Amino acid sequence: MKPIKIKVNNQEIECPVIEGTENEHGINITQLRKKTGYITLDPGYANTGACISKITFIDGEKGILRYRGYPIEELAGKISFTETAYLLLNGELPSQDEKNQFSKSLRKNANIHEDMKRFFDGFPLNAHPMATLSSMVTALSAFHPDSESEDEEIINKNIINILAKVKTIAAYSYRKYNGLPFIYPNQDLNYVENFLHMMFSDSQEEYHADPVLVDALNLLLILHADHEQNCSTSTVRLAGSSKSNVFGAISSGISALWGPLHGGANQAVIEMLKTIKKDGNNYKKYIEYAKDKNSPFRLMGFGHRVYKNYDPRAKIIKKAADQVLTKLKINDPLLDLAKQLEEVALNDDYFVQRGLYPNVDFYSGIIYRAMGIPTNMFTVMFALGRLPGWLAHWKEMINSPDFKINRPRQIYTGPTKRSLK
Ligand code: ACO
Repeated sequence: MKPIKIKVNNQEIECPVIEGTENEHGINITQLRKKTGYITLDPGYANTGACISKITFIDGEKGILRYRGYPIEELAGKISFTETAYLLLNGELPSQDEKNQFSKSLRKNANIHEDMKRFFDGFPLNAHPMATLSSMVTALSAFHPDSESEDEEIINKNIINILAKVKTIAAYSYRKYNGLPFIYPNQDLNYVENFLHMMFSDSQEEYHADPVLVDALNLLLILHADHEQNCSTSTVRLAGSSKSNVFGAISSGISALWGPLHGGANQAVIEMLKTIKKDGNNYKKYIEYAKDKNSPFRLMGFGHRVYKNYDPRAKIIKKAADQVLTKLKINDPLLDLAKQLEEVALNDDYFVQRGLYPNVDFYSGIIYRAMGIPTNMFTVMFALGRLPGWLAHWKEMINSPDFKINRPRQIYTGPTKRSLK
């Protein structure tokens, strides 16, 4: 494609145009400052591409999401979360042998070092599980000092370590919060069953995960597995670009995910729905708050930087919430309330004009609740699902021929030079 000419202060420079496989175009401005002295300014990065990637494609206007070319609607409910992880990491779905090998290594590496279990004692009983999760993932690096290595085999081994062990840490965070004994992973169980076993097993009684819960969790994890350059994935790339080890980079992503504008929204949605219910179910009042520029209230689980159409994940989750609750014979008034809020919002000019639709977090908490997962664990569940995406992006970045430390610039607006005198 022909380069684009940009004129800055009568100085014209030619910028190469990068064309993606889905007809997206980017202007390569890497020579801009060198040749003109100017930089671009894009707070929030809404117009800035930070990398070239082969992993996930989103068309926010059309509501399209594809992992490695496969539409999310084709993957959700049809393959397992571990197959999805393999696909994101390796670019192709696994053969039967590859799948067996991958699952086996995830099962084999699920235990954390015995000494690490004692770290949990240092957290207060009411520690938020996200605080525990991000600290413990950083701590994992101390038990895997080879994570500084650039050897491909060691890199792949530590990717498996993270996928396998983080679910154990997540379950232990829940057990710690509830004052329950830790339950070791069971090598006979698959990824999702094993997680549910570590969460809900009781030393008095044998636990068998309800297949409805296994399927629902599998679906939710797949839907969260990747979303290209979102805030937490960009954080993983940014932290990893200093060549910090993979455990540190993933832990940075977990911290970025925690915020209520990102993955923390799933917890915030349920808290919001509970508040509205307590306030006499007067949801129309909260729609007015959300529209009021003098109120800090936002409709949590609504809106997205990229989707200006219905988030395809939310569509699938909404349907699944109905199915799971029916199968489990649960009647959750929060689901009815969420649907009422959605209906009013989608017919309101404020939301229509701004392209604000339910996002992945709007209905996911309803399913987690039905599974018996407490609200403060919701973002941990998101993190578990997002691990394959973070790891795939980290791996793609460190292997990229364009690899560079990420270091944005700024326009300084503070005081000019002054003196103490
Ligand atoms: N409720 C009310 N108004 C909203 C909402 C909302 N949830 N979201 C956006 N708006 C309004 C803004 O006030 C703004 O209005 P204006 O043009 O009159 O100023 C307009 O819509 C555009 O919003 P921005 O904040 O500029 O959009 P941005 O792309 O920066 O933010 C975000 C996206 C953070 C997701 C935002 O929609 C939001 O805060 N949503 C609620 C939190 C949430 O659900 N986050 C999860 C997102 S999905 C994920 O990360 C997994």
